[in-house]
Amino acid sequence: AVDIKKLYRDTDDYMGKEIVIQGWIRTLRDSKNFGFIEVNDGSFFKNLQIVFDETLENFKDVAKLPIATAIKVTGDLVKTEGAKQPFEIKAKSIVVEAPSSSDFPLQKKRHTFEYLRTIAHLRPRSNAFSAVFRVRSVAAYAIHKFFQDRGFVYVHTPIITGSDAEGAGEMFRVTTLDLKNPPKNADGSIDNTQDFFGKETNLTVSGQLEGEIFALAYKDIYTFGPTFRAENSNTSRHAAEFWMIEPEIAFAELEDNMELAEDMIKYIISYVLENAPEEMEFFGSIVDKDLLPRLQNVVSNDFGRVTYTEAIKLLQESGHNFEYPVSWGMDLQTEHERYITEQIFKKPVFVTDYPKEIKAFYMRLNEDEKTVAAMDLLVPGIGEIIGGSQREEREDVLAGKIRAMGLNEEDYWWYLELRKYGGVKHAGYGLGFERMIMYLTGMTNIRDVIPFPRTVGTAEF
Ligand code: 4AD
Ligand code: MG
Repeated sequence: AVDIKKLYRDTDDYMGKEIVIQGWIRTLRDSKNFGFIEVNDGSFFKNLQIVFDETLENFKDVAKLPIATAIKVTGDLVKTEGAKQPFEIKAKSIVVEAPSSSDFPLQKKRHTFEYLRTIAHLRPRSNAFSAVFRVRSVAAYAIHKFFQDRGFVYVHTPIITGSDAEGAGEMFRVTTLDLKNPPKNADGSIDNTQDFFGKETNLTVSGQLEGEIFALAYKDIYTFGPTFRAENSNTSRHAAEFWMIEPEIAFAELEDNMELAEDMIKYIISYVLENAPEEMEFFGSIVDKDLLPRLQNVVSNDFGRVTYTEAIKLLQESGHNFEYPVSWGMDLQTEHERYITEQIFKKPVFVTDYPKEIKAFYMRLNEDEKTVAAMDLLVPGIGEIIGGSQREEREDVLAGKIRAMGLNEEDYWWYLELRKYGGVKHAGYGLGFERMIMYLTGMTNIRDVIPFPRTVGTAEF
């Protein structure tokens, strides 16, 4: 059989010829003595139209086939002047490869994304999700290509870890102990030496710390893998399992980090627009009319830059009545992030140099000793899409920060030791892959850009 994608891409090679297609029925309309089937074979976002008529020996049976039936079609590819689709197949034979029950839930009408979430095992067959998950695949490839073309080494950091990379304690425990009846120490605490690894372990919240190990050997590295957070926040932008891209660059400071992040975002957008044009057109017409012009603007303009301190001033001077009052030292809430990027800058903007108290222990302390060399990238419609920083390379300052933040210095012995042996200045960031897909597609719920969402209370499959 020929892939439908090939028919669209190399139409002239197939025009007028007899071809064979294998795919699933998406729609079927029939009249008394002819009918149309839209078939999708999975190779392409678009469907292929099949016309059939009474010359088929099984015409009456074909006309009654339910949606989702798998069929094999043999026929001639012909041009369709003035029609919606550029060509169609005049069927000479249609054979059922696998029948479908007539109660297939995805009938032709539009379904809400909420409803489609309840049938996550079938939603990849809908138009919208076909487009989302193809874009997801193309974007993943674009990210690898961006870094590989620049000589970055792809590092696989561990999924099960013995350290808390963010020091925020929002981790999923991994254990083989019977937690109803665990072995105990004399003081009543759990005896973790009897656990599988002889210590307490968790699912990773970030590959950054291990990424730093590799950046201090290979200079430029990146990770791209699943990360897990037991944040109890039930929002449209948080998932318990999400994918993160974390580059780490040595001999580099915050400015180099921002340049890399800006180049990467622009590259991903351009690559996806060029390599998934049908899907992107679909999002531009069905999900968000401003999507394509907006993305074009992002690619052709510089991102904004503002320090946290300036941003706080701008928010205070805006006169806007925020739900959460604005003052120096507070963590920016989504409403503030979105106001900065949507109302003040109207484009992606890096916010830098946050107060040290609200950022992770590993961020480099600035000269003022009040702020750290942090950078968050905020984008319209979403808020934070990237979090990153220059890392604290001074061993004594880092050890002081770990203690001051109430973390256990011993847990980070190897991380501190990296600073002892050629621990050059380095920086990195994490891009939330699902948030990037939301940004690319205009989809507004993180549950609709990841194939198998895991959120508070939901882990189907
Ligand atoms: O800002 P975060 O927590 O930064 C880190 O994890 C650093 N270790 C990254 C680094 O410097 N190497 O997370 C980075 C990004 C966020 O900006 C956001 O896009 C995404 O990861 N993210 C989430 N995405 C979906 N669901 C969640 N619960 C997320 N938490 C963070
Ligand atoms: Mg962050």
